[in-house]
Amino acid sequence: MRHLLSIADLEREDIERILSSAAFFADVADRPIKKVPSFRGRLVINLFYEASTRTRSSFELAAKRLSTDVLNVVSSGSSVEKGESLHDTVSTLSAYGPDAIVIRSPHAGAPALVAGWSGAGVVNAGDGKHQHPTQALLDVYVLRERLGDLDGRSIWIVGDVLHSRVARSCAQAFRKLGAEVTFAGPPTLVPNELAALGCEVRHTLDDIGDADVIYALRLQHERMSEAFLPSLAEYTANYQINSRRLKVRQLLMHPGPVNRGVELSGEVIDAPQSLIIQQVRAGIVVRMAVLVEVLTGSHAADPAVQRMTPEPQLA
Ligand code: CP
Repeated sequence: MRHLLSIADLEREDIERILSSAAFFADVADRPIKKVPSFRGRLVINLFYEASTRTRSSFELAAKRLSTDVLNVVSSGSSVEKGESLHDTVSTLSAYGPDAIVIRSPHAGAPALVAGWSGAGVVNAGDGKHQHPTQALLDVYVLRERLGDLDGRSIWIVGDVLHSRVARSCAQAFRKLGAEVTFAGPPTLVPNELAALGCEVRHTLDDIGDADVIYALRLQHERMSEAFLPSLAEYTANYQINSRRLKVRQLLMHPGPVNRGVELSGEVIDAPQSLIIQQVRAGIVVRMAVLVEVLTGSHAADPAVQRMTPEPQLA
C-alpha cells in the first residue's frame, strides 16, 4: 500500500491483512522487548495541524516500536504560525527524506494533496469531516477481538454524525466486514441524506436495545458554526448513553475524547461493557501495521514482515 487516505480505498482483504499484522504486533508487545528492528534508519514525520492525544502519541509509539526515527511537527509553535503554507511546510520537511508522513488537518483532502507533493507514503490521521481511517481500523480490530467477526452484527453510531470523520470511516469499515450500521441522533446532526452511505438513519434511541454495539460520538462544538441543538440538556435527555440505555449484553465504544456527562454518562465510561481503553491500546499495534504497509509500499503478508521477530541486541 503506497498511502492510506481513506477506508474507501481498502477492500475487505486489505482490512483483514492489516488486522492480522496488528495481531502479530500485539504478540510482540507482550514480550520483554517490544520493538522490531526492521525499519531502523527510516524516517516517519507526524505532521499535526489539529489537536490530538491518542492518534499522535500512538503513531509516535508505533514508529518507535518499528525502530524508525520519528519527527513530530505540530502547527502550534511551528512556522505555520508565521503563515507558511501546507505546500511549503511539506516541501521543507521533505528535504529530510521522510519515508512516511502522517498528517492530521482540519481540511478534507489535505492528506491527498500531501501524497501528490511528497515522495513519502502518506497516512491520513484525520482530515476535517472526511476520514480517520486508522481509527476505524483499530475499532474493527477491537470488535473482532471481542466478537470474532462482524458479519450480521448491528452497530449503532450515535450522536454528532454530521461533523464526524470517525463515523464515516467506521461506517465504511464496519459495512465492509459485514455489519449493519445505524446512525442515530437529532435530525440536525444525523440528516436523512446520510442514508446514502448505506446506513439506516434513526432520530430516536427507542430501538437501541437491538444493537450489539453502541458507538457514541463526541459533540464537536469546534466544528459547529451554527446552533444545531435547542439545548445541551435536551440532547442529553434524548441521546445520552447511560446505564438506563446500555444493556448488559451490549458493547460500548467511543473514539475519545469524551464529553463526560454529555454523550456518555460517567458510569458507562467505566462499565464492563466499555471498550474505550481497549480502543486506545489497539491504536499502537494497528498503527504499526499501517506504517509497515506504507513503509514497505506493499502489504504486511509479505514474507519480509513475517520475518520481523524482535532481536534484543538491535532493539
Ligand atoms: N480518537 C482520536 O482521534 O483522538 P485524538 O483526537 O486524541 O487523537
